[in-house]
Amino acid sequence: MNQTALQDLLVRIKADAAAAIEASESIDGLRAAESKLTKGPLAEALKSIKQFSADERGSAGKAINETKNAVKSKFKAAQDALRSANIEGERKRAATFDPTMPPTVSQQGQIHPVTAMQREVERIFTGLGFAVVGGPEMETEYFNFEALNIPEMHPARDAQDTFWLTNGWLLRTHTSPCQVRAMLRWGAPLRVIAPGRCFRYEAIDASHENTFHQLEGLLIDKDISVAHLIAFMRLLLREVFQRDVKVRLRPGFFPFVEPGFELDMSCAICEGAGCPTCKKSGWVEILPCGMVHPNVLRHGKIDPRKYTGFAFGLGLTRLAMMKYGVADIRIMNSGDLRGLVSPARLSGARVS
Ligand code: PHE
Repeated sequence: MNQTALQDLLVRIKADAAAAIEASESIDGLRAAESKLTKGPLAEALKSIKQFSADERGSAGKAINETKNAVKSKFKAAQDALRSANIEGERKRAATFDPTMPPTVSQQGQIHPVTAMQREVERIFTGLGFAVVGGPEMETEYFNFEALNIPEMHPARDAQDTFWLTNGWLLRTHTSPCQVRAMLRWGAPLRVIAPGRCFRYEAIDASHENTFHQLEGLLIDKDISVAHLIAFMRLLLREVFQRDVKVRLRPGFFPFVEPGFELDMSCAICEGAGCPTCKKSGWVEILPCGMVHPNVLRHGKIDPRKYTGFAFGLGLTRLAMMKYGVADIRIMNSGDLRGLVSPARLSGARVS
């Protein structure tokens, strides 16, 4: 190697060092690049010293050393810069980190079985042209009872004892007050469902709760008959259970329907064999229903000579129990995580 070749080599080493520093994103990367240059071209340059004449060696050695030191200090500076950038980044992250925030890890869970059931029934009925409406949980005595043909001294009030508020209002015992509210608001013809929470003064057991969900349904139009009612109820249960469900119709008394029915379905917990949920009868009351009483239509300012209709009060909570196989109604308000992680895990669940 002659002087010029050595000069070229040293210039290239500096250029390579600059390029390697530019390209490295980590301290390890810088270290690797530096050691590659030192062991490769720099070592080669040092070795070449032997080839120079005695009086050339001094300046050649000096040039090589200079380059070596320059490369070394450039790499060191680059490492220092990266290190302080990392520290700064850490500090910034630490400053904005809020240890009181909930963790971002995704938690497996899902909506409450009753909500799932409600959405499903809403989907079915909106597909049939029904509107979803609401109503107050704190209701007046008028809409909860009187407008529904249950006057003050009527014994039907006993069956729906509830929580009374100091202002004379009450916690609604069913979603039926939404019927007359909807009639007054929209008139006939009418297709509405009204899901919501209801309350009763109950002795609590596997199938009774003081707080539960119902879903009211109301269809009013010309020439509506019991045949329409049965057809709609069958369709509802078939859609929910995705199979033909065995049902039976018994006469049922509710002052706001005439005729009134109790629609039972065979118990999905015990498949009809008899269990605590169905009180060992194999049947579960799921859908009280009937033809809207003319007095109720009148309270809703609808002419009973022109219009007829049917109404039903679906026990949403009970339906969710049937669908997901929950044996004890108390689970539904308990916040039991088995139900929120996967309704399937509620199957057969009881309060221990
Ligand atoms: N509201 C009644 C109850 O909760 C159920 C019902 C609704 C019955 C509509 C007939 C028609 O017991």
